[in-house]
Amino acid sequence: MAAETITFDDGAAYEEFMGKWSLLAGQAFLEWLSPASGLRWVDVGCGNGAFTELLLQRCAPTEVQGVDPSEEQLAFARRRLARAPATFRVGDAMALPYADGQFDAAVMALVIFFVPEPARGIAEMVRVVRPGGGVCAYAWDILGGGFPYFALQDEMAKLGQQPLWPPSVAAARMDALRQSWTDAGLVDVETHEIAVERTHADFEAFWAAARKGPRIAPRLSELGAGGADVLKERLRERLVAAADGSITIEARANAVRGRRPG
Ligand SMILES: C[S@@+](CC[C@H](N)C(=O)[O-])C[C@H]1O[C@@H](n2cnc3c(N)ncnc32)[C@H](O)[C@@H]1O
Repeated sequence: MAAETITFDDGAAYEEFMGKWSLLAGQAFLEWLSPASGLRWVDVGCGNGAFTELLLQRCAPTEVQGVDPSEEQLAFARRRLARAPATFRVGDAMALPYADGQFDAAVMALVIFFVPEPARGIAEMVRVVRPGGGVCAYAWDILGGGFPYFALQDEMAKLGQQPLWPPSVAAARMDALRQSWTDAGLVDVETHEIAVERTHADFEAFWAAARKGPRIAPRLSELGAGGADVLKERLRERLVAAADGSITIEARANAVRGRRPG
């Protein structure tokens, strides 16, 4: 499975491609996590603020700090949450720009597979939460076929294209998450599977969302007009529509939580 650099440089496109999925998985994640209100959160790899917004709506935090390497994603997040107690800055999960013990809780929402050295990212989350603070994450089970655009990736592979996976997909397996959280010294570690589905009005709506993914448009160009048409028609056949023409896609994510001792 080839790793390729995937960057997110369009917050609005991200919203249609993945932000809506993040909302669905994030709701299920927070139901499971059931965090207290009034906490100070850091949202690592906050992207365009999709999960940050959920945190603000559902958990009444006193503060949320979002950090992400993408200026474009952060610009969308700042517009989206202009009046919220949320602050966004550029940074890397492996070197968080925060003091030790500054937060009550740290989260990575759909991020751990993008972190080149996941153990360093987890260690950083442990560092920036106070003793007793929570460290949690959820991520698509890409290797287990849980990615929402698995069918697209699969059909692209059949046409000879390398799958577009992020660099650390194995880190998102359930057993890997449990092991990593334990290895990081966290206690009360628990894992949970999240199953979600998203319904698109019709195939064209699905296709429009899928095309907005990072590096999808260049891949379609590489296939040429004929190849892109073949791909689209194969997907149309594969994704069976309901009687009203709608297309429902299922996806699965793995979630983990633990607590810094103290
Ligand atoms: C799939 S998006 C998730 C965004 C957001 N958390 C959400 O739930 O919608 C992955 C994000 O991870 C960010 N990212 C990639 N590498 C990162 C790193 N080393 N440290 C922190 N964030 C990273 C990307 O810029 C992108 O915004």
